[in-house]
Amino acid sequence: MIFDLTRLPDDFIENPHPYYAALRECDPVYEMPGGGLFLTRHADLVRVYKDRQTFSSDKKVEFYPKFGDSLLYQHHTTSLVFNDAPLHTRVRRAIAGALAPRAIVGMDVVVRQLVDGLVNDLAARRQAGKPIDAVAHFAQNIPIEVIGNLLAIPRAEREPLRDWSLAILGALEPEISQQQFDEGENAVREFLAYLEALVARRRTEDLEAAGDIMARLIRETGEAGEDANLLPHELLQNCIFILNAGHETTTNLICSGIFLLAQRPQIVAQLAENPELWPAAIEEILRMESPNQLGNRRAVADFELGGRSWPAGTLITLGMGAANRDPAMFDQPDEFRLDRGDNQHLAFAGGVHVCAGNSIARIEGQIALASLFRRWPGLQVEGGLRRSPRVRFRGFEFMPLTLDGGA
Ligand code: HEM
Repeated sequence: MIFDLTRLPDDFIENPHPYYAALRECDPVYEMPGGGLFLTRHADLVRVYKDRQTFSSDKKVEFYPKFGDSLLYQHHTTSLVFNDAPLHTRVRRAIAGALAPRAIVGMDVVVRQLVDGLVNDLAARRQAGKPIDAVAHFAQNIPIEVIGNLLAIPRAEREPLRDWSLAILGALEPEISQQQFDEGENAVREFLAYLEALVARRRTEDLEAAGDIMARLIRETGEAGEDANLLPHELLQNCIFILNAGHETTTNLICSGIFLLAQRPQIVAQLAENPELWPAAIEEILRMESPNQLGNRRAVADFELGGRSWPAGTLITLGMGAANRDPAMFDQPDEFRLDRGDNQHLAFAGGVHVCAGNSIARIEGQIALASLFRRWPGLQVEGGLRRSPRVRFRGFEFMPLTLDGGA
């Protein structure tokens, strides 16, 4: 079987799972035509995530040929997710406190209010006979507010954030056009200028007691030579990363949840009877349609995998979408089951880079989907829906809904 991430079959975006299954069965440590390995087994991904001495997240070698001396290069290679220690450790330590479960107690109340407002807006659109798009009129509005609050971005200034974020993440696709590059580059430029001004404003305030992520990062920042954890450009680039990290992923979690549940009325009925099963449903959605389908690491030492040895320098693509349907880990992996118990999916990756916002994403997903299906248990996804054409991020650009079975 030939599988090339830069030349995928036409039906791959619609349903990549048969391709992933074939790779997992026939060639789980697959050498891609352009070089590098594509991994599809759960156990292999876990092994790579855990061994950070061998498998690096630093992307400088990989991104330089793609991005050259650009702002996109600076941005991605300064983000904590694409770094190893010490930068990763410094940034992660600074932000972990703001994202930990105990720091976000009470966030559910804010998310519930936001979602209630959006559900009421949907009801008004339905009443007025207007078309309803699950992406634009519901899902995408939730993470933007939540992350805006976490970083204390003034509400009136949030509008451009989503487009910047999409343009910057779009440039991470395995193959990009000049237009995608230019859009990503402009987005980093505008985002940096915006954040520089915002940080300058924040510095005039009393930040000592402020608990938001930006205040925490500003407190860690100083000029070179000072006793500080972050340099000013590291502060800005990591604020951009955190603002980006939770937008599209969480929007896609919610939309994939709508898509999967709308096809499974028995599961919706079970959830209506037993709302305490919602957390299990969210884990199944994350497992079956992982918002991040692919991750990368680069080997910095020789290693063994799949019964062979591989040299330092090997680029590894981690197929999370594939590993999350590995039958060696999950019984009946293509079935949506609320009784999986300990669902060890890898939608949030693993090891030291495990998603720092996973508790927040779970809260958003659960409140959004439970509220929507409580109000319209019979909601239907209509024809004409459009999937996002990206390989790395699985989700939707447009999802028309008919809201049924409720008021
Ligand atoms: C369903 C939603 C989400 C998914 C599927 C997701 C997935 C991921 C994955 C797979 C990684 C690790 C990438 C790697 O190392 O290869 C990651 C890292 C990260 N995510 Fe998320 N994420 C989500 C939502 C969020 C949210 C809401 C936030 C913040 C508010 C967030 C913040 C971060 C941060 C800061 C990192 C970097 C962690 C590190 O490198 O140590 N994520 N996420």
